[in-house]
Amino acid sequence: MSSITIIGAGNMGSAIAGLALAAGSQVQVLTREATEVDPRVTAGTVGDEITGDVVVLALPYGALDDVLGAYEGRLDGKVLVDITNPLDFATFDSLVVPDGSSAAAQIQERVPGARVLKAFNTNFAATLATGQVGPLATTVLVAGDDADAKAALAGAVSGVRVVDAGSLKRAHELEALGFLQLTLAAGEKTSWTTGFALAE
Ligand SMILES: NC(=O)c1ccc[n+]([C@@H]2O[C@H](COP(=O)([O-])OP(=O)(O)OC[C@H]3O[C@@H](n4cnc5c(N)ncnc54)[C@H](OP(=O)(O)O)[C@@H]3O)[C@@H](O)[C@H]2O)c1
Repeated sequence: MSSITIIGAGNMGSAIAGLALAAGSQVQVLTREATEVDPRVTAGTVGDEITGDVVVLALPYGALDDVLGAYEGRLDGKVLVDITNPLDFATFDSLVVPDGSSAAAQIQERVPGARVLKAFNTNFAATLATGQVGPLATTVLVAGDDADAKAALAGAVSGVRVVDAGSLKRAHELEALGFLQLTLAAGEKTSWTTGFALAE
């Protein structure tokens, strides 16, 4: 059985927990303060031992440093999933990661023993909950360097189509795509319940 730990229980953390429960995975959710979560989930707080083989950082970009600090030396071997859209929300005009890089690449550098994936950042939370983007299935694009890690993530969730988008370098493009999708939604050119989809 797959096991997954989701750190953060906001819009994305809750939606991803739903996908993992639908897949029959063992689900642990860690929050900074004790909070009520789905009774099928094991709840805990940040700093508790991580039980999942797959660990999803369902956090704002700005919180990553603190949370990774809390798990210093304890993430080796884990499949570590970055879902952030690292935007400058003050200007809404750029990403805050260095040109050509990505939040996921920064995480891989910070936690070299983990197998980092970029995933879910091009999916609005509502489309994870429904499994639909308009008439199409929600597609989760995954970038990473470890094929087994990608398979572990794909096996831990269900209700969405999971597509391999290439190496961890492609996290740069996924973050650009996430940024563009946010721009379109904020400008009311698409809605927060739809967004980009990938036709088969
Ligand atoms: N919403 C979307 O549709 C969407 C789509 C694609 C990607 N994303 C990305 O997904 C990530 C999460 O977004 P979201 O919409 O789920 O945000 P959210 O609803 O605001 O939830 C954020 C979660 O992170 C927790 N958190 C914040 N700072 C923390 C810290 N310092 N230590 C521990 N936990 C902390 C929050 O805990 P508290 O409740 O205690 O504040 C909350 O559980 C973001 O990086 C966002 O860019 C979002």
